[in-house]
Parts: sequence; structure tokens; C-alpha cells
Amino acid sequence: MTSSLLIKNASQVVTMAGLTEKPAKQEAMRELNIIENGNVLVQDGKIKAVGKQEELEQQYQDVIAEAEVLDATGKTVTPGLIDPHTHLVHAGTRENEYAMRLKGQSYMEIMNAGGGIHATTRATREADFDQLYDESKQRLDTFFQYGVTTVEAKSGYGLSLEHELKQLAVANKLNQDHAMDIVSTFMGAHAVPVDERDNPEPFVSRVIDEMIPEVAGKKLAKFNDVFCERGVFTPNQSRRILEAGKEYGLVPKIHADEIEPYGGAELAAEVGAISADHLLKASDEGIRKMADNDVMGVLLPGTAFFLMAEYANARKMIDGGVPVALSTDANPGSSPTLSLQFIMNLGCLKMGMTPEEVLTAATINAAHAIDCADRIGSLEVGKQADLAIFDVPNYLMLSYNYGMNHIDTVVKKGETVV
Ligand code: NIG
Ligand code: FE
Repeated sequence: MTSSLLIKNASQVVTMAGLTEKPAKQEAMRELNIIENGNVLVQDGKIKAVGKQEELEQQYQDVIAEAEVLDATGKTVTPGLIDPHTHLVHAGTRENEYAMRLKGQSYMEIMNAGGGIHATTRATREADFDQLYDESKQRLDTFFQYGVTTVEAKSGYGLSLEHELKQLAVANKLNQDHAMDIVSTFMGAHAVPVDERDNPEPFVSRVIDEMIPEVAGKKLAKFNDVFCERGVFTPNQSRRILEAGKEYGLVPKIHADEIEPYGGAELAAEVGAISADHLLKASDEGIRKMADNDVMGVLLPGTAFFLMAEYANARKMIDGGVPVALSTDANPGSSPTLSLQFIMNLGCLKMGMTPEEVLTAATINAAHAIDCADRIGSLEVGKQADLAIFDVPNYLMLSYNYGMNHIDTVVKKGETVV
């Protein structure tokens, strides 16, 4: 039994076509390939055709005759949004630290005093599989509500083999059970455990010799990420951890230059990372090296917003030839939001990105940042039918009415999930 769906007469269908082979850079980030009064025909979870009604009716009369019809008059259709950097699986919240920061304490001071990532690590270690599963499942439901149809999810609140595996197992089980697609990243090197901070080398060795082989052997992750930051992991430690992951087939990612310039962008280029994320304080040299080596810059303006810090220089990166993606960085400490739409607003209003660039950054470039662009990120024949339908007549409205959820309908693999 085949099933088909016709999304009919949308005022705009933003296809993002033609950017599957390589991440979009510079002016390519501003080419959305829009079809006015467009239609999308979906069959068996995949995109069968995209175009004007007459064209589709001529060619696919039989399929359309059987299709369920979704009238999108006055609405804007885009590829399902993709969030390429989240700390989805964790337990608890840290609103107490938020209040402390509002009184003047810094994020790193709180972390160095044993809070921050360490606080969430304690909560996550105490939580059993089912609790983590339930909390994360709720977050996935909310991601859907806001138009996100694929998320990357990092471990990194276990900081021991047992608890890192538990976090990754939750993400993998949710990937099976939930309609959301989840791409997993191992981030054992998210922090040095509290009681080992004076002597981090044994922990670095455990990440390299114990955790990476086990995670890769169990096929629990596709990427390997490190928090390269003064007081967390040095560039040298980060390099060793990322190189070790490569030997086991884990593709490097890196939390780079978030709080201080620390050579993270440069390191990303040197180890051949698929992306360098954050980059609030990336150096000009680091940006140039990323451009030369096609490293995606995954920008997380929610973190600058929430930590009341300076924003990453998206303009300089895009103009300098770095492909840019956007993400929530959803986590309980530095960016407790699940709204990629709000992140897109911040991209425009705080990082000087154009509405076209933010849409590219949250769809096809986000897909490239997690190596899924062959399947998702654009509305093209043969790709997975993941779509976001917004209750606005054009894409500019998405960043004009800010801080709102514009979603009308979300389609995942051809099924309506919102
Ligand atoms: O991407 N910077 C490091 N890791 C996360 C924050 C994690 C936390 O505060 O719990 C980030 O900002
Ligand atoms: Fe992060």
C-alpha cells in the first residue's frame, strides 16, 4: 500500500535545491530557490515532486488522485529544520545558576566551583535510563512543535564509561522509538570530572583508551566532540582526543573558542573536523583556516544571548567563505531553549545574517554539519519528506515576528507529526 500526500498551493515553497553536494557558502547561502504558489507531492515518505500545480497535475495525475491533500494557501513550506548541536539527553535544570549569573557570577566561575556541567553530570549520573528517556522524549516532542525534524545529540554529562554509554543508549533508543531522527555524538571530553581536575591526564587517557573504542565498537555515535577551552581541555588534549576518535571512525567536532580565543578554530581545520561550534572568540587566522578547509561553523547565538556575551562574528565568517549553520545548543546551562526559530531571529538581529542566510543555516547547511545532506535539508526529488509548514505568507515573516512559534504543520517522512 503506497501512501501519498499533496501539499497544495503554498504561497512559498522554499526548496534550498542545488546545495546537496557541498555546503553553501557566501552568496550560495542567499539562494533559496523559492517556488511561489508551490506544491509538494510526497509518496512513501519521500519527495516525489516539487513545483507548480499544473506541472504536477500533468505528470503525476494518478498519484495525486489518491493523495491526501493538505491545503497550504497563505503558508510557507520549508525543509524540516535541522538542529546540528544539542545536549538533548540530560537530567534536570539549572535555573539557580541563571539567578547567580544575573547577580554577576560568570559561567566559568560557577563551573569551577563545581556547578555548571558538573551539576548536570551529577543529576545525569543519578538518573536511570527511563528517567533520561522520558525527559529527552519530551524535548523531542517540543522540537517537533517548533519545526525541527532532525537533531544531533551529544553525550557528555556522564564523564565515565558507564554513564556516557547510558546517555548514548538513550539517544539511540529514542532514535528507534521516536519519529525524530537523532544523530549521536560522543562527548566524553565535555569536562574533567570534579575530583580529577588537578590531574586531568588519567581522564584524558580513559577517554582515548577506554571510552572511544567502546562507543565506536558499539556503534553508538557518529561524531566525537571536545570542549576545547581554557580550564577544560587544552588544544593539545583536544587534538589527541579527536585524532584518537578518527582512528575508530568517529568524525571530529569541536566546541571552539566559546569563552576565550584558544586556537579551537585552527585546531578544527588541522584535524579535519566536520564542524567547529560556538566560535564567539574565534581568531581571524582560525576563520581563514576554517574557510580554506571547508569546516562548517555551527553558530549558537542562544549561548551569547543567555550568557550575555558577545556574539560570534557571522558576517566575517560568511563573507570570508566559511559555510555557516545555526543551532540551539539546547542544554540546561548556557542555552536552555528548544526553539531554533528564535535562534534564527538572533542570527538576523544579533549576528548580522540575512533572513536567507539563516534559513540556509538551519536547513541544508545544518544537514551538512551532521553529514546528512544526501537525505535531508532541502525539498528535492528523492529526499526524505521532512517539511515544516509555517503559518506565514513568506519566509521573511519568520524573522520579522520574532520570538514566536510560526509552525502550522510538521511532516516527518511523509507523516504529519504536528
Ligand atoms: O555548548 N560549552 C560547553 N558545553 C555546553 C554547555 C553545557 C552546560 O553548561 O551544561 C555548551 O555551551
Ligand atoms: Fe554545546
